Amino acid sequence: MTQNYQSGFGNHFQTEAIPGALPIGQNSPQRPPFGLYAEQLSGTAFTAPRHENRRSWLYRLYPSASHPPYVAYNAAQQFAPGTDKSPLPPNRLRWSPLAKPETPTDLIDGMTTMMANRDPASLEGVAVHIYHADTDMTARAFFNADGEMLFIPQQGRLTLMTEMGRIDLSPGEIGLVPRGVRFRALLPDGIAYGYVAENHGSLFRLPELGPLGSNGLASPRDFLTPVAAYEDDDTPHELIQKFMGSLWSTTLDHSPLDVVAWHGNLAPWKYDLARFNTIGTVSFDHPDPSIFTVLTSPSDTPGRANADFVIFPPRWMVAENTFRPPWFHRNIMSEAMGLITGAYDAKAEGFAPGGLSLHNMMNAHGPDAVSWRAATDADLKPHKIEGTMAFMVESCWPFLPTAHALATAQPDYDAAWAAFTKAKIK
Ligand SMILES: [Fe+2]
Repeated sequence: MTQNYQSGFGNHFQTEAIPGALPIGQNSPQRPPFGLYAEQLSGTAFTAPRHENRRSWLYRLYPSASHPPYVAYNAAQQFAPGTDKSPLPPNRLRWSPLAKPETPTDLIDGMTTMMANRDPASLEGVAVHIYHADTDMTARAFFNADGEMLFIPQQGRLTLMTEMGRIDLSPGEIGLVPRGVRFRALLPDGIAYGYVAENHGSLFRLPELGPLGSNGLASPRDFLTPVAAYEDDDTPHELIQKFMGSLWSTTLDHSPLDVVAWHGNLAPWKYDLARFNTIGTVSFDHPDPSIFTVLTSPSDTPGRANADFVIFPPRWMVAENTFRPPWFHRNIMSEAMGLITGAYDAKAEGFAPGGLSLHNMMNAHGPDAVSWRAATDADLKPHKIEGTMAFMVESCWPFLPTAHALATAQPDYDAAWAAFTKAKIK
């Protein structure tokens, strides 16, 4: 496979790995070029409004429908085991980075579900997984029937060989594989660690810009979608799918990554977070962190996100007479937060790159005592926060940690806020 990309977000792309493979002027001709099989992949309902409608047409060596029955896949212990249904403590939770797997582990077996909200069958909600893998997927592919997967590498490159082309991701970049699209993952560095936001709801899109105008935040031109590339491999391949929260497996007699040409606006992409045009105050006080939204998945209620993907990138802090870290807050939205690199400006320690935290609906949080003291005493002048990249998956639905996540959370997170003393009224 060669690597090449097309630029734009939600564009109607067309691409062919072999000249002449893509039918012209119609989607499903009686005899597609080279005897390829025409197949539509829908990302939205057929009748979704035109500006939201996403679908692509794939032209492949075998129809996807040609496969034996799926059987339960039991090898992955922590990927999609379901959330804890017992009463959920409202406590703030935080996790240290997950340990390296003890045996050779590929991306799928190396996936640990940390939290989720809503049942995938509700077509709402988002799950947060952490992957830690050291082995390529060979003769093995995966697709997710439950949602689109937003990959957030933290350590080690990740190459996603998707049925619609190849995506090379490095830490600091993010990549999205649409619901249903098959892929296998290669690890060029021999180790890969990162996060996945699995979105069961409306497709991630760029947020509205409102009074910002026509520019700012993530620019559509910086989203890169691969050109068609395919595998012509008639050897047995395992195909695993995640469906309604469980994993299922079947075996094909060929590679499922056999799409020779495709066209449409439902496609994988990658994005370099360094391209994000960060906006902030130039007078006083912070805007709400929604100013850092890269992608949003709207719910049915206007302005209330099923899931927002938000970053805290390097940026200048120039506000006058303003407490620099995030303020103390209690939000109606629930927040899962990860750290790609560096340090987060509201926490002095305990939140390491590769770690994760959870602050559910209405549960108070903000800077820890050490960060608050330092920011309160600081001599304010313009300074740049550098060498950091934190992110948040924010949702209107409270997150349910998995039983495994509840059992492995740091025991002392509340101590971050234990050292505050009483304000003095003179
Ligand atoms: Fe928060």
